[in-house]
Amino acid sequence: MLKMAVLVSGGGTNLQAILDAIEEGRIANASVGVVISNNPGAYALERARSHGIEAVCVSPASYADRECYHGALVQTVQSYQVDLVVLAGCMVVMPKAMIEAYPDRIINIHPALIPSFCGTGFHGLSVHEKVLERGVKVTGATVHFVDEGTDTGPIILQKAVDVLQGDTPETLQRRVMEQAEWQILPRAIHLIANGKVSVEQGKVVIKE
Ligand code: GAR
Repeated sequence: MLKMAVLVSGGGTNLQAILDAIEEGRIANASVGVVISNNPGAYALERARSHGIEAVCVSPASYADRECYHGALVQTVQSYQVDLVVLAGCMVVMPKAMIEAYPDRIINIHPALIPSFCGTGFHGLSVHEKVLERGVKVTGATVHFVDEGTDTGPIILQKAVDVLQGDTPETLQRRVMEQAEWQILPRAIHLIANGKVSVEQGKVVIKE
């Protein structure tokens, strides 16, 4: 049984998609051991508690500096003895110590088709604003392993979503979540939990 720590920052709809998929059997052989937020007001914490899952806030505001905060974050994750760290709407850039502690064991959902609209400054609604500004006709979402770069790790799954005339960042965000994020994040977890995902020469190979 793969035990996960899910790291969140906000609403937690991706966390909800994971919890629903576990309940419905679309994710087999995996459980959420803890949900950790940097933001004490994150609704994701409520979602976790209402499912009987331990929900913890590790806030940068509680620590003297970034180094102390990073140390506490890594220590908290390690204290739950998890096999996989899932960044589900987590706006904190993972510290080097976390990446070293969990090589090819941290995954992230990004709301665009990497390598487009990703990297520093591309997160949350701003990704969709930039997609609309550029006028691309297709966007989507990506699940990838996290390495030391920003959105540079091996890609596990991607799904394309049409951009429609008249879209606002909010309508586009919702469509990308519904049609892509909430499907490919649970799917990627299921594949990892069931030994179907390996990284070979920097690229993901999936045994279906
Ligand atoms: C999601 O769209 C997720 O892909 C994005 O933040 C949103 C969080 O929503 N993540 C990033 O931008 C990471 N770079 P949620 O809290 O409802 O899951």
